[in-house]
Amino acid sequence: MKHTRVKDLLNSTTILQGVNAKGWVRTFRNNQFIALNDGSTINNIQCVVDFENTPEETLKRITTGAAISVTGDLVESKGAGQKYEIKVEKLEILGDSDAEIFPMQPKKHSLEFLRENAHLRVRTNAFGAIMRIRSVLSFAVHSYFQEKGFVYVNTPIITGSDAEGAGEMFKVTALPFDNPPRTEDGKVNYKEDFFGKETNLTVSGQLEGETFAMALGQIYTFGPTFRAENSNTSRHLAEFWMIEPEVAFNDLNDNMDLAEDFIQFVIKYTMDKCGDDLKFLEGRLLEEEKSKPQADRSEMALLEKLNFVLENNFKRVSYTEAIDILRDCTPNKKKKFQYIINEWGADLQSEHERYLVEKHFKCPVILFDYPANIKAFYMRLNEDGKTVRAMDILFPGIGEIVGGSQREERFDVLVEKMKALGISEEELWWYLDTRRFGSAVHSGFGLGFERLVLFVTGMTNIRDVIPFPRTPMNAEF
Ligand code: 4AD
Ligand code: MG
Repeated sequence: MKHTRVKDLLNSTTILQGVNAKGWVRTFRNNQFIALNDGSTINNIQCVVDFENTPEETLKRITTGAAISVTGDLVESKGAGQKYEIKVEKLEILGDSDAEIFPMQPKKHSLEFLRENAHLRVRTNAFGAIMRIRSVLSFAVHSYFQEKGFVYVNTPIITGSDAEGAGEMFKVTALPFDNPPRTEDGKVNYKEDFFGKETNLTVSGQLEGETFAMALGQIYTFGPTFRAENSNTSRHLAEFWMIEPEVAFNDLNDNMDLAEDFIQFVIKYTMDKCGDDLKFLEGRLLEEEKSKPQADRSEMALLEKLNFVLENNFKRVSYTEAIDILRDCTPNKKKKFQYIINEWGADLQSEHERYLVEKHFKCPVILFDYPANIKAFYMRLNEDGKTVRAMDILFPGIGEIVGGSQREERFDVLVEKMKALGISEEELWWYLDTRRFGSAVHSGFGLGFERLVLFVTGMTNIRDVIPFPRTPMNAEF
């Protein structure tokens, strides 16, 4: 007999005879009431056991975490809290779970503890909800771009280039690291390596994506990216997923419009599909905030915050305006910032970004026209000769969620910039070809998928929105 998903049983419009459900026991009360969850929804189905006619041996094995199969009629529930329940006629233990040692007890666990048990935390309500939302958000990303006719491009994971020029890369090699072949001057000889050159895990698919945009018009990537930056923060992962659209003939304003529309679409889509999960996470958050001092609590509940992003335009502010605001703000004057903003040209830290978004503008902000020397080599130089057509989108509680730009399409200007930064023209000959042959204005951006999931779920640590986080000193599982 084929089992029916709990979600479908709970959504049934009538009572049903002889249904089968399979899942994991969340709780078992009074030797009678099983709360069964199968991951299809945050909601459990109540299964009522006829304990008088069930062997004591079997009842003992209905423990939290056990996998079971129940068969019986779906009937109207006499208890409060659910419309339907299963009146169990047949119960089978599929996999026992020793209640003494099963780590996911029916009580509140700390997020730290759950991280150490990432293989089991997905059996909790919160992580089930987060991972379902993550899945729906991924689909929303594809829906958005596919409906608009963008081509999905799988850019390489192993590359020879450092797209961001930041040098924060994981090396890929097949050489024996204890005794690699060396050149005459003692350096590792990568000519003898698997690819005959130095390679690394990609930090971004942008450069390859640009070449496709210059043929297919509008493309997007959605894949894993890797950064060996030693940032042990609640916003950084060493392995994260990035979405990178790239569009020929778009300028920076078009790029901002696209990013804003895209983010609003995927949030709306997820709100429409994941109501129960979001409501659960909202409740969890409210509960958690009760223990915080009033000043540290969020001004809006989760759904209100998401609606706010849908209903309000993102505020567009130039870097220069932002610096003026930051220089004159109270935390800067009172030296409350770790990095004091003294002059134009300063790189913005997350404390500054969050001040602008959370305290000053109180809405998502798009900062644009950054100083050239704090941004990547491929961004288009403005007429002023000192700023580039860059944009970062800053979100409340998150900081930077998107980084993007209009690209430098002028061959000579690009080459000059690469020379100044010591970026090899020989290595990037293929990238330069896009500017040699049929170059045109084009723009794109990268959205950190986990930062989006953070925002939508209201979680505060990026380790809690990816199944198995990779961070400095941590690659368990
Ligand atoms: O700002 P970034 O470094 O931009 C790029 O990689 C460009 N090539 C994108 C483009 O224009 N196509 O990264 C883009 C986004 C950031 O805004 C942030 O959301 C996310 O990627 N990100 C990270 N997320 C998690 N952990 C990290 N270590 C991240 N580094 C960047
Ligand atoms: Mg960035």
